[in-house]
Amino acid sequence: MKKFYLTTAIDYANGSPHLGHAYEKILADVIARIKRLQGTETRFVTGLDEHGQKVQQGADAEGIEPQQRCDRIAEEFKEILSTLKISNDDYIRTTEARHKKVVCELLQKLYDAGDIYQDEYEGFYSTRAEQFLQEKDKVDGEWPEIFGEVTRITEKNYFFKLSKYQGWLVEHIQGSTDFIKPDFRKSQVLEFLKEPLNDLCISRPSDRLSWGIPLPFDSGFVTYVWFDALVNYVTAAGFGTDEFSDYWPADLHVIGKDILAPPHAVYWPIMLQACNLPIPKQILAHGWWTTSGAKMSKSTGETVSPLALADQYGADAFRFFVMREMTVGQDAEFSLERFSSRYKGELGNDLGNLVSRLLHMCHQYFDGIAPDQELQEEWEERLQERWQETSTKVLQLFEGFQFHQALEETIGFVRAINKYADDRAPWKLAKSDAPEDVQALRTSLGTMLEALRLANDLLAPVMPGVHARICKCLGQNPVEKWEGRLDWGRHLTNVKLGEKIILFPRD
Ligand code: ME8
Ligand code: MG
Repeated sequence: MKKFYLTTAIDYANGSPHLGHAYEKILADVIARIKRLQGTETRFVTGLDEHGQKVQQGADAEGIEPQQRCDRIAEEFKEILSTLKISNDDYIRTTEARHKKVVCELLQKLYDAGDIYQDEYEGFYSTRAEQFLQEKDKVDGEWPEIFGEVTRITEKNYFFKLSKYQGWLVEHIQGSTDFIKPDFRKSQVLEFLKEPLNDLCISRPSDRLSWGIPLPFDSGFVTYVWFDALVNYVTAAGFGTDEFSDYWPADLHVIGKDILAPPHAVYWPIMLQACNLPIPKQILAHGWWTTSGAKMSKSTGETVSPLALADQYGADAFRFFVMREMTVGQDAEFSLERFSSRYKGELGNDLGNLVSRLLHMCHQYFDGIAPDQELQEEWEERLQERWQETSTKVLQLFEGFQFHQALEETIGFVRAINKYADDRAPWKLAKSDAPEDVQALRTSLGTMLEALRLANDLLAPVMPGVHARICKCLGQNPVEKWEGRLDWGRHLTNVKLGEKIILFPRD
């Protein structure tokens, strides 16, 4: 049976991981976790893009072999994944034998079909961008800064007939509402496709670049790094094995906006179409994290270490922050002030305080045994209605990748629980022996416990660690599937509760 298969971009092995990489993996992880919670079998893959000139140059500069450098960088990236609780099922590296084999198979197939041909190329080349340039790439008669040094070269190379498939691609993109998200990116891709496509140079002569996969039909050349890298998605889906049809076509590629057009929205679907393989169902292009307006990147050195923040405040708080702060598809500005304000406010004051004061009262008044929701009065009804609205809305927002709003709604519900507590004032009720006050006290704590249980289940994909800790306090197992767990009920009555905890310490 077809499973939900989602991927991230595979990171370049030419520097250390930064906030942008961390964000993308968290975004994809949240989506994967939501799918699993919905009961959908899911395969989630990320990995490392290890070939190409920049990787070779980096290794040369250090005086080590490229593979050695990649192995070290792979460890760094994998450590980030584990720190950030990324639940990937596989980690693909493009220097693995399983991948080289698939790249060669696809190249040979395209070569045999006549979609790859040799030609003499004369023109401008950017080493930094690892790409051939044209006059139209100039801005005001100059090569833009991003291309670094641009040189004029003449060389034989192999070319892939992109142009042959342009009409088909335009038609496909126009006819699909799902293929490219967000929608405004679809228009940008179509705009890009208004110009005639040049065929894609998919080789580099081995005497200029040796760090790559040799072309199966000409060992004097290695494969262009983008052609190599994109193929990772089918390699990791088990291309050539029986499993492949369980995963392919990919349901979702999560990538950054800089690599949408042309690589993911143009080269990749055309490569697949030319190989007679189905194309991915959806590509989600997220925006960039910036610091004071500039894109955070390895080359400018303007980076914030995600590990440092996650270490200091916990991976869950960090995951919450990036998902809460960024509207998927838009850019977002990173600042420690913003982080700190979300941490202290929504996490500490709203969620953290609810958990600690609620547990405190349950222990103080009921020896840590969850009381029943005996009454059903106006306050209880209002909170239950609010839950119905919140859960419906949040699940819809998840479907549309509107995670920042989904979290706003969920925290809004947590605030409604706190408001309910203020209205019912259990600490006042506890001072009275009158039977109706005792009933109201039991009801108020029972109601808050159930509401917290529900809010916590909705937070699970974003803060899996905090979720598990709250579950433990509530005598529950962490949620595996949402089915049956998102309905208001009496799930906790008479449950033995755990000790009070501080989820988001101040220092
Ligand atoms: O592009 N904010 O690798 P990469 C948000 N190897 N996302 C960012 C970002 C930022 N400041 N900086 C980078 C590559 N990213 C290729 C991909 S896929 C077959 C090959 C995102 O390490 C970027 O948009 O430069 C991309 O999706 C991912 O991080 C890896 O970037
Ligand atoms: Mg990049």
